[in-house]
Amino acid sequence: MSTLDVSVHLDPTSLAAQMADDVRDGLTRIPKVLPPKYFYDARGSELFDRITRLPEYYPTRTERAILLERVGQIAAFTGATTLMELGSGTSEKTRLLLQALRDAGTLDRFVPFDVDPAVLADASVAVSAEFDGLTVEPVVGDFEKHLGELPREGRRLLAFLGSTIGNLDREQRSSFLAEVRDTLTDGDAFLLGTDLVKDEGRLVAAYDDAQGITAEFNANVLQVLNRSLDADFDPGAFAHRALWDPEEEWIEMRLESLRDQQIRIGDLDLDVTFTRGEQMRTEISAKFRREGITRELAAAGLQVVHWWTDPREDFALSISVPVARDLR
Ligand code: SAH
Ligand code: AVI
Repeated sequence: MSTLDVSVHLDPTSLAAQMADDVRDGLTRIPKVLPPKYFYDARGSELFDRITRLPEYYPTRTERAILLERVGQIAAFTGATTLMELGSGTSEKTRLLLQALRDAGTLDRFVPFDVDPAVLADASVAVSAEFDGLTVEPVVGDFEKHLGELPREGRRLLAFLGSTIGNLDREQRSSFLAEVRDTLTDGDAFLLGTDLVKDEGRLVAAYDDAQGITAEFNANVLQVLNRSLDADFDPGAFAHRALWDPEEEWIEMRLESLRDQQIRIGDLDLDVTFTRGEQMRTEISAKFRREGITRELAAAGLQVVHWWTDPREDFALSISVPVARDLR
């Protein structure tokens, strides 16, 4: 029998309060902006899952292929007893890691951590059923705020897959990586997936697919605001845009207002005006180079000890370990 015990560090009330603050702040800025974490209600997580199977969206299948080749090495190197996964979503690829750690005979606990309770619950139940005897301890939380809630015992491997780190800007990454470093101790390891800089055409196509699933995912954030904050966005009055910024080396997803319009956000007692053609940023997805991310990790006190890519060098998986504090 497996055991399942959900730990909630982000109850619906605090999530709503955080969302209210973020949305008020973002919609009163010029240009307007929304944080990407609000994409992920049950519908958003389902749409993301469909994105991962699109022909244009290479990151998931590429990372999966690298994992498939390297899980044995990862298990042997880390000897982890506890696998913790940030932004775990469906934990689809993670099953490869769980199996390898189990085959190595070390694994006893899995701690998936996600802001969306719906996807977390489904994935936890499924993993529990698949891995008999495994203790699954899901945590509902925000990885920018609640890393202190991760368990401290055991030899721990902290995984952050899918290049979700690219949805944070440089400053956010710096604070986040410092927090990661602080939660790790000697013998622990950090497994990070990073999408790499490549040809602009392939990057833009990955965020503007022919079937329009990414467009639906983008517009879903407006439905989340309608439901959670009593807003009256008409998602049909906004168009999906995906642009490559060569200076920042990130993809920006935006929603462009198709007309002059005024939106009421009831719970914030706020009216927001959009002019025709005005664009609101809903996500950045930074792409990385080996030197850059190695430097960012080092600045946080994390030393890269393994770096693996696919033959096209589209995506990278790295393992870092915490550097002794007196060597930082
Ligand atoms: N790791 C999976 C899913 C990536 S999608 C993969 O590689 O395919 C990004 C996931 O991160 C979603 O499940 C989303 O709910 C979660 N997420 C986004 N922002 C978050 C935050 N601030 N804190 C915790 N989880 C977050
Ligand atoms: C979760 N994250 C890494 C995805 C990405 O590629 O930035 C989210 C996404 N946005 C559009 N498509 C997928």
